[in-house]
Amino acid sequence: MAALIGVLPGDGIGTEVVDQALRVIDAIVRRGGHAFELRRGLIGGAAIDATGKAFPAATRQLALQADAVLLGAVGGPKWSDPAARERPEQGLLDLRAAMGVYANVRPVRTHPSLYEASPLKADRLRGVDILVIRELTGGIYFGTKQRDADSASDLCSYTRAEIERVLRVAATMARRRRGRVTSVDKANVLETSRLWRSVANELFAREFPELQLEHLLVDAAAMHLLSRPADFDVMVTENMFGDILTDEASMLAGSMGMLPSASLDGQGRGLYEPIHGSAPDIAGQGIANPCGTILSVALLLRHSLGLEAEAARIERAVYEVLDSGLRTRDIATGGVAAVGTAAMGDAIVARLNA
Ligand code: IPM
Ligand code: MG
Repeated sequence: MAALIGVLPGDGIGTEVVDQALRVIDAIVRRGGHAFELRRGLIGGAAIDATGKAFPAATRQLALQADAVLLGAVGGPKWSDPAARERPEQGLLDLRAAMGVYANVRPVRTHPSLYEASPLKADRLRGVDILVIRELTGGIYFGTKQRDADSASDLCSYTRAEIERVLRVAATMARRRRGRVTSVDKANVLETSRLWRSVANELFAREFPELQLEHLLVDAAAMHLLSRPADFDVMVTENMFGDILTDEASMLAGSMGMLPSASLDGQGRGLYEPIHGSAPDIAGQGIANPCGTILSVALLLRHSLGLEAEAARIERAVYEVLDSGLRTRDIATGGVAAVGTAAMGDAIVARLNA
């Protein structure tokens, strides 16, 4: 039976970058040997407009049935009224929770032809290859929220089981890499972080004694990502710290538009999305960088469908096109004329077909 891929373009540039990702999937199918069933669904603002809900029941059903889900981005000014009852971002959080994708894997790799696109100096960027694992279905994103006229609160809570399972993903991935894990927390202030740190120490001593575990406070980690990025191998952290640190880390790779992500449930099903948002400022102009989403397709084929060769082929095609000098606006430097979203997609598809 053909693998079922749910496709949720969402809002803003989400639809534009997903269009290019679908062309890449089509190119893989045309090479033969694989058949996928692609089924589209609504999420975020687009879903609110059509159904009144940011995560409609039909989308939930699709997400639970699918072998993997590819998502663009959600949100935009049209739906950002603070008083609104339905919010696009809540739809995305509900999707992540419904799929149980607790481990969000965000690879941050630098590539020589993009060194110039990064605000950091090239000598800091050489050899940077970080796998950030962000806990995705717990913490302050999902705690009880309270609001009255003059006060508000968001509860941050974690259980031992939630911490252990995401740390285990990080450790398992570190085993196949350089064997170093940096666990990021705020244990000098937060109780959840103190639990996190002690669970990490116990787990690594018990199950992963061969790995090197280091702890960093999140504020220091933010600094070290800029001062010594090449030292990191696997970095694992809670939900909100991971959100913030990966936006920062994306600038090592040249742009937010370059970073893919895989959100995994521990059993092979996953949700795949670029780390960038819907970018209302450039939506509709056809200038967004589709690479993060196309690289997310590679992660989807690798982690959910077991198609390593195809995944590697897509990654190679993306980097060959970048090496050839083609640039979308976000990564264009030195007076290079930027191409649009579709032209970048064209070039990557042409490489795949070559
Ligand atoms: C991300 C995004 C989301 C998050 C938003 C859109 C809810 O910033 O995937 O990093 O905070 O998780
Ligand atoms: Mg984010």
